[in-house]
Amino acid sequence: MPLHFLTGCELSAQQLSDLLRRAAELKRQPLSSKALEGSSVALIFQKPSTRTRLSFEVGITELRGNAVVLRSEEMQLSRGESLRDTALVLSRHVVAAGLRTSSDQALQELALNAHIPIFNMLSASHHPCQALADLLTIQEACGSLAGVQIAYVGDGTNVARSLALLGSLAGMHVTVASPPACALEASLTPPPHAQGTITLTDDPRQAVDQARAVCTDVWVSMSDEQADEEDISKRIRSLAPYRIDDALLDRADPRAFALHCLPAHPGQEITAEVLYGRRQRIWDQAENRRHVQKALLELLLSESVEGEASGGSLASSAAPSQASSSALLHR
Ligand code: CP
Repeated sequence: MPLHFLTGCELSAQQLSDLLRRAAELKRQPLSSKALEGSSVALIFQKPSTRTRLSFEVGITELRGNAVVLRSEEMQLSRGESLRDTALVLSRHVVAAGLRTSSDQALQELALNAHIPIFNMLSASHHPCQALADLLTIQEACGSLAGVQIAYVGDGTNVARSLALLGSLAGMHVTVASPPACALEASLTPPPHAQGTITLTDDPRQAVDQARAVCTDVWVSMSDEQADEEDISKRIRSLAPYRIDDALLDRADPRAFALHCLPAHPGQEITAEVLYGRRQRIWDQAENRRHVQKALLELLLSESVEGEASGGSLASSAAPSQASSSALLHR
C-alpha cells in the first residue's frame, strides 16, 4: 500500500524526525540523491502557486526525476472524467502525484484510488508541506524541536492547522492566537503519540510569550477571495491586533524570529520592517520547502510497496459518479 501524505498525521514522530534530519542533509548536499532517477512525478494544480510549484519542480530535478506539471482545467477532469480513473492512469505513468485543490475530499478520493503515493500540495484544511518547511527552519535556529515553544498569530488557516498538528507531533508546544471568528476548531488535538501540545487563544500577546518563533499567514486566503467585500473588511479589522510587528516580537523570547508561508501582504499580517528585517527567517523558510519536499519524496517512495497495477480493486467500494468526482475538484 502506498504511504500518502494528506494531513501529515500519516507520519510517526520518528518518521517526521528522520525526514527533517534527511532534509538537512539534502540541503547541505543538494545533488547527492538520485532517488527519482528514471522516474516522473505529477504535480496537479487546481489553484495558483509560486513556491510549491517552484520548489517541487526544482527538487524533483535535483533528485534526477522528471516533474510533470498539470493544470486541472487542462485535464479531462474538467470535462467530467472521474478522480478514480485519473488516479488509475497516474499510477501507470508516475511514481507519485501531488494535488493542490480546494477540496479535501478530492484529495482523499485521489489517494483512495491511487496505487502510488499522493501528497497534499495545499487543500482547504491542510498545508503539510509548508509545515515541514516551517519545522526545518525552526530546527535550524533552535537545534532541536522537542519542548520548543512557538506561536502562530492571525487567521486560523490550513497553514495554522498543519503547523499545530506537525509541530506538536515534533514535540513542540504550539499556541495559536486568532479572533474567535477566524479560530481553528476547538476540537483540534495533537496526533496520537505526539509529545507536544496545541493551545488555542484569542490573545496574541499571551501566545507569543516565550515563543522562539512567531508565525503567520495572509488574512485573506485564496479560498476567501470570493467573499463579500464588507466581510473581508470586517475580517481585516478584527485581525489587526494579530499583525507581526517589532512590538509583538519584543514580547516573545529575545531570540524570537518571524515566519510567514508567503505570499505576504506587508502592512497587513506582517510589517515590512519585520518581513525584510533581521528578526525573520522567512526567506530561509521559503527555500526549505525544496529540501523538505525532496526528503518527503524519498520517504514516500521508500515506504510504499508497489500496489496492484491493473486498476480497480483498491477502490471498488468507493467509486463516485463521474459528475460528482469532477465537481469535487472544480467547485
Ligand atoms: N506557501 C505556499 O504554498 O506558496 P505558494 O502558494 O506560492 O505555492
